Amino acid sequence: MTDPISTTWDAICALPQPKLSELFAADPDRLEKLSQRLEASFGELGDLGIRFDWSKTHLDDAILDQLEALAEAMDFDAQREALFGGGIVNPTEGRAATHGAMRGSGTEADVEEAQALTTRMGMLVEAIHHGALGEVNHLIHIGIGGSALGPDLAVDALARDLSLVDVHVVSNIDGLALEQAFAACDPATTLIAIASKTFTTIETMTNAASALKWLGDNGVDDPSGRVIALTANPEGAVEWGVDETRILPFPESVGGRYSLWSSIGFPVALAVGMDDFQAMLAGAQAIDTHFREAQGRANLPLLAAFADQYYTRARWCQTRAVFAYDERLDLLPDYLQQLEMESNGKSVSAKGEPVDRPTAAVTWGGVGTDAQHAVFQLLHQGTHLIPVDFIASIAPGDQLDPAHHKSLLINCFAQGAALMAGGNMSADGKDPARAFPGDRPSAMILVDDLDAAALGALIAFHEHRTFANAVLMGINPFDQFGVELGKKMAKDIDAGEGDFDASTKALMEAAGMG
Ligand code: F6P
Repeated sequence: MTDPISTTWDAICALPQPKLSELFAADPDRLEKLSQRLEASFGELGDLGIRFDWSKTHLDDAILDQLEALAEAMDFDAQREALFGGGIVNPTEGRAATHGAMRGSGTEADVEEAQALTTRMGMLVEAIHHGALGEVNHLIHIGIGGSALGPDLAVDALARDLSLVDVHVVSNIDGLALEQAFAACDPATTLIAIASKTFTTIETMTNAASALKWLGDNGVDDPSGRVIALTANPEGAVEWGVDETRILPFPESVGGRYSLWSSIGFPVALAVGMDDFQAMLAGAQAIDTHFREAQGRANLPLLAAFADQYYTRARWCQTRAVFAYDERLDLLPDYLQQLEMESNGKSVSAKGEPVDRPTAAVTWGGVGTDAQHAVFQLLHQGTHLIPVDFIASIAPGDQLDPAHHKSLLINCFAQGAALMAGGNMSADGKDPARAFPGDRPSAMILVDDLDAAALGALIAFHEHRTFANAVLMGINPFDQFGVELGKKMAKDIDAGEGDFDASTKALMEAAGMG
């Protein structure tokens, strides 16, 4: 039987590779075909408007025809329905992936369960806002990976102007991280959230114990009474000493890097209120609906995955860069790194067979305009071909002279245009040092206003893009065994067990562990 993946890539690699400028010249409808505006209205929770423009990528009808056929051969429609229908989409762990249900997109039973859990979280949030746990001015949210990156991003993006509670997200086992949070908080008015799906992660449990000690050492009578657990292992939290009334559970089938929508989003709700948290869920659900219903290239996350696949598998691009022209999204590249690299950084298919082309690219990025003065040199003139995503908001986040925001957007649009156009900046047009090859791809996501709904939509778009990439590669995006070996070796070193190589032994000795 022929393998549809290798057949597709052989066929795509045999196609001519017109330049971006040629693609625009050849097809007057190109912009219309490869860009789309999504709109939704959520009543009192607000509106959503986002423009997605993939026209400055090398996708054309011939490539898209091939990739749509590949999607069909990989049973994309059925896999997408399995995702929302609670099917086993994580075969190595025998699990469903029901993060969609947390925002209303799933089976009736999953959505019902999710809504009950969100309501429970909302009641605790309201109670805290109304003083049920005394004066609360600070929250130290302790978690790592998916239990920290989403809350950190969302609090940073949404709670800049008005934060009902001052939130500090601490992830690293490096005590400096926790000390920094302690220095910014008054122990008498601080709550501790322990966020861990498994409630066993060494960094989180160590930091949680130190945070409780800090409360006790600083005059708080009942430190464990100040703890809220956010977990899919409520029994583990009870065993650890958290009172059941302050445990906010979430389903085991919600993966760590997809858990922002569950009680792991508690600090977001505490900082900005339940209405904004619900708006974030609504924005994500609008993308779920689009992803579920739109077909082929009209499906935006799938279209983005087509471009990702094309650049990694046909053009051998090893990285993809994301630049948000918005300070509020400065943590987005970190968030996307876990989402994309932990999900799709695999070397075997879901059936356990070795893949024969690259899987996830390395995701990296930063904020514009800062990045223009640091890394854009390489994007414009370096030897790597790096597809870029730009993200910006039409409405400004600041209250200053509108000249700031205008300049921010102008710069963003100019970079995409320059990457594509290329040219020569010297007087005679011949100086190689001033030459720009151009024909460098970029995509643009332009939101009307970066509010809670838009943030939810942006994140859900990337979740589905990651899933679509996995389906097209035939890999399982929902496990992450690659993180386990290092964890085991750390335990072995701690226990003085295991036979390590000479270099590692020398390092242990140098640090007094020999
Ligand atoms: O080590 C990887 C990982 O399992 C991530 O997938 C997860 O988001 C993170 O650790 C934290 O896990 P937990 O929420 O169980 O503490």
